[in-house]
Amino acid sequence: MINNPSKKFTPQRTADGSQTFFSEEFGELFHSHHGAKQEAELKFVQPTQLEIKARSATICLLDVCYGLGYNTAAALTAIWQANPYCHVRWIGLELNVNVAQAAIAQNLLDEFPESVRQFLANLAIDLKVKTEYFDAILLIGDARKTIQQVREFNFLVDAIFLDPFSPPSCPQLWTIEFLERVVSCLKPSGYLATYSCAAAVRTALIAAGLHVGSTVPIGRKSPGTIASFSAKNIPQLSQQEREHLQTRAAIPYRDPSLSDSAEVILQRRQQEQQISVLEPTSRWKKRWLSSSEMS
Ligand SMILES: C[S@@+](CC[C@H](N)C(=O)[O-])C[C@H]1O[C@@H](n2cnc3c(N)ncnc32)[C@H](O)[C@@H]1O
Repeated sequence: MINNPSKKFTPQRTADGSQTFFSEEFGELFHSHHGAKQEAELKFVQPTQLEIKARSATICLLDVCYGLGYNTAAALTAIWQANPYCHVRWIGLELNVNVAQAAIAQNLLDEFPESVRQFLANLAIDLKVKTEYFDAILLIGDARKTIQQVREFNFLVDAIFLDPFSPPSCPQLWTIEFLERVVSCLKPSGYLATYSCAAAVRTALIAAGLHVGSTVPIGRKSPGTIASFSAKNIPQLSQQEREHLQTRAAIPYRDPSLSDSAEVILQRRQQEQQISVLEPTSRWKKRWLSSSEMS
């Protein structure tokens, strides 16, 4: 039964007409106000090249922070448009199942095909779906714990969607230690996509063995990040972006026991920044601002 907890979430329309929720707990929208559906398609599905990967018989996906289900809905739509017979094996990680249930109860996924919506409605209630073409498990709990289960299943994936709230609001899911575990689930030929271009996030992905590049910015100035084990699949960072990774902003979030609170993780990073010999990020910003004014 889909009932009361979903009432906590009030839909808000984004610029592309699709709707999202606001999180009181994290003080953020669940998606960019430029467009929830557009963000899923352009920041997650296209960069991970799922339409091309759909030519194979099976695709494996890991959705970190399933939320309302937009990224997965957009992925399934693109995959089955490209190849209706592609078998999708999927694991999603999410703290609060009420979010997914509220999205279904309030018809937020109505712009996706009926078959996709039906699968995701079943997933929000049963936490698993097993059909000929979709084999899915939604693991509910702190992703720092549930990622361990994914590793125990030996589940290696073609694409990872990394979509927590922003690093200042939810640093737990952007740490060196967590991202190392997430990346260990990626196939050698796989892609990880995230909306964030934060230097600290990119440093953590590089530390986990990935090459990182920018995705095309949509609606707002900053791009997202696409990452893979192979440099040849990834667009090169610009000089400005490479220099950003040499500043104090690139000092990563750390959570050695994978159990610290957001406050402790933020404080630990701040202390590391205070004693760092790296260039202050404000100086880097000023340098690039003045060079863009000159050109
Ligand atoms: C930006 S939203 C994700 C939006 C989602 N990808 C979509 O397409 O609708 C972030 C999600 O992370 C979840 N979350 C927050 N902390 C978490 C944690 N420690 N472990 C797992 N999920 C978490 C929130 O409940 C929220 O649904």
